[in-house]
Amino acid sequence: MPRVTTLVPALAAHNLRHGFGDTLVLHGVSLAVLPGEVVAVSGPSGSGKSTLLHLLGGLDTPQAGEVWWAGERVDTLGTQARAGRRAGRVGLVFQHHYLLEDLSVLQNVQVPAFLTGQDGISRARELLARVGLAAREAELPRVLSGGERQRVAVARALATRPAVVLADEPTGSLDRANADIVARLLLDLARAEGAGVLLVTHDDRLAARADRVLHLLDGQIVEEEGLALSAVSSQPAARE
Ligand SMILES: Nc1ncnc2c1ncn2[C@@H]1O[C@H](COP(=O)(O)OP(=O)(O)OP(=O)(O)O)[C@@H](O)[C@H]1O
Ligand SMILES: [Mg+2]
Repeated sequence: MPRVTTLVPALAAHNLRHGFGDTLVLHGVSLAVLPGEVVAVSGPSGSGKSTLLHLLGGLDTPQAGEVWWAGERVDTLGTQARAGRRAGRVGLVFQHHYLLEDLSVLQNVQVPAFLTGQDGISRARELLARVGLAAREAELPRVLSGGERQRVAVARALATRPAVVLADEPTGSLDRANADIVARLLLDLARAEGAGVLLVTHDDRLAARADRVLHLLDGQIVEEEGLALSAVSSQPAARE
């Protein structure tokens, strides 16, 4: 018998529909991101990119449709259960770093581990070294530059070796030189660890580093290049 290997997507969405008031923003969005793959999402302002990212990260619940992380459906979980899964499986990076100002740089990187009941200190130190901030671990975020703070946010996003990394304009508030450093760290680290990355960006230079680019237009996904969506099963073979 030939051995059949099923690649479970790191992240999958099926037919997501979501809106606010009478306005439907997402009209049935489906996508899948494989482990180690980087997918960029672009689209006009107001097209629903951040809305989509919030649903994919389980920060909001879709009005219809499904969200899967590493083979587990999560949109149907309660808020607490979902937050617990998120801490272990999903790393988030936003345009603003959202570091906790009263915690040291090191403690900030440990936060996702704290949420899963671990201290994560050796992992946090390893990641700080990889983003070039090992010597700054005891400092408070406010003494760091914008680029350095965003590098801490990248380290934090990878702290629990998440299956999924979601990033919303992660370089949007940085100058070009710092944007390049942060983008390289985020993508190199995530790829090296086999995380699936979904990245919202207006920056063509950042999108060019992705394996595929999806466009969000009129509430739907249009794929620009690379694999056809139909070539990737977006659910694991066995759902039980
Ligand atoms: N919490 C909310 N309540 C009401 N409307 C919202 C809310 N969040 C988003 N919207 C609306 O949904 C639409 C999509 O917003 P979203 O922030 O997802 O766009 P975006 O593609 O991320 O835009 P940008 O590129 O400017 O960040 C917009 O019309 C926005 O006003
Ligand atoms: Mg946005």
